[in-house]
Amino acid sequence: MPITYITRRERFSAAHRLFVEGYSDEKNNDIYGICSRPNMHGHNYELFVTIRGEVNPTTGYIMNLKLLSKLLKEKVIDKLDHSNINIDVDFMKGLVSTTENLAIAIWNCIEADIKLLGAELYKVKIQETENNFVEYMGE
Ligand code: NI
Repeated sequence: MPITYITRRERFSAAHRLFVEGYSDEKNNDIYGICSRPNMHGHNYELFVTIRGEVNPTTGYIMNLKLLSKLLKEKVIDKLDHSNINIDVDFMKGLVSTTENLAIAIWNCIEADIKLLGAELYKVKIQETENNFVEYMGE
């Protein structure tokens, strides 16, 4: 059966501050620069979730993207959108709120559910700014 890849984009806006707990403001500033300013800042993030699978010969789909969108909304977007990633988001507790950690955490939130929907998670990509994005493929 032919294998194809399909990607769903979701968007969210969220605040964060990059800092290591226990480091001084000066040391955090050396590592993270303006991203470590104490009063937080925000981004309009774009999340791209790519799934991989065989095309069902009857439906012509890998999976129904409406179901993927619903899953992403419930497990990820509703928690992140208009939130403070450092404070409000259960799956980011104890992690520095970098885009790298966010991509891994989102992968861990949805991988099993996507399997239950009959597809395979291939990639989580997060565009943080116009110039920066992170990709995680489960390794
Ligand atoms: Ni930032």
